[in-house]
Amino acid sequence: MSTLTDTRQVGKTTPAIAPALHVHGLVTEFRSRRGTVRAVDGVSLTVPRGGVLAVIGESGSGKSAMLRSIIGINPPTTLITGEISVGGRDLLTMSPRDRRKARGSDVSMVFQDPLTALDPVYTVEKQLTEAIRKHHEGIDRSQARKRALELLELVQIPSAAARLTAYPSELSGGMRQRVVIAMAIAGRPTVLLADEPTTALDVTVQARMMRLFRQIQREIDMGLVVVTHDLGVAAELADEVAVMYAGRFVEYGSAVQVLTAPSHPYTEGLIEANVRAGQDRRPHAIPGAPPSLDQLPPGCAFAPRCGYAIGACWDGRPAPRVVDAGHWSSCQLVRGETALAS
Ligand SMILES: Nc1ncnc2c1ncn2[C@@H]1O[C@H](COP(=O)(O)OP(=O)(O)O)[C@@H](O)[C@H]1O
Ligand SMILES: [Mg+2]
Repeated sequence: MSTLTDTRQVGKTTPAIAPALHVHGLVTEFRSRRGTVRAVDGVSLTVPRGGVLAVIGESGSGKSAMLRSIIGINPPTTLITGEISVGGRDLLTMSPRDRRKARGSDVSMVFQDPLTALDPVYTVEKQLTEAIRKHHEGIDRSQARKRALELLELVQIPSAAARLTAYPSELSGGMRQRVVIAMAIAGRPTVLLADEPTTALDVTVQARMMRLFRQIQREIDMGLVVVTHDLGVAAELADEVAVMYAGRFVEYGSAVQVLTAPSHPYTEGLIEANVRAGQDRRPHAIPGAPPSLDQLPPGCAFAPRCGYAIGACWDGRPAPRVVDAGHWSSCQLVRGETALAS
């Protein structure tokens, strides 16, 4: 792809290709007359091409705000600082025009509810070819139709040609979500953001959808960030997992490290709740509720709900500490050295 930045230098060990997505120190503040809410508080992450990062955490932890900040669709009064680069291109210093152009071709997003992403009054063909033409200037109608068919085949919609003339209401929830994914990848994005992409679907459809994400992501060699509260989704899809609580990542590592050897008590709580939910098929939750973002406790934001908390946990927000290579956790009780969150 033309957006690749090749940083190869003889004798140096710098990565040959810029990561699909690199975010550093991202802060998102929603401002209104009632005050300011800091929904994302210094988040950093890197996703290589072909890599998958899952972000897990309870409702209200800032997961959607983070994705919306990356793609640039927050309300105009939102203040965003930090660094966001896609394929080596810095999104936050771009002109608004370039930023709009980057949407869909550099970074694209799939939302939770496929219904809101599709327009009920237009056929699949109309919506899909429009998405294609936005990213391929000068493409004619028949070429756009051919590409639309290819995309429907890529997202494994059976009888793709017949589906082109369908309206969204004539498709099942799973098929609609496939069309939404096809639209999101029409511009061959460097990175795809997916905000709880399977939550609105039946359990059986969810598993197929996750396999589809994996296949597409390999096929077009993009980075994928998938936000989910479902640890099964994270385990199935992700190379790395970030755990978000009260606007910050509190644990980060490979999916195996985080999901099988969690270090942060919050991650432990999420896994425990998930296991119990699986056993008796009922949703379970960590006791207590996440703090309101405008009334964070001093110290660790999880301390009021944490069974391990000691006095020092109220003394300041804990810095990330190294648990293992590539694995860190923002908990006082981890003995490792302080980590620089990458
Ligand atoms: N547009 C907005 N204006 C003000 N506050 C917002 C806005 N969007 C989200 N928030 C607040 O930011 C916090 C994080 O929300 P969100 O990112 O939706 O969490 P999650 O996706 O993890 O459930 C919540 O407290 C929410 O109320
Ligand atoms: Mg959300």
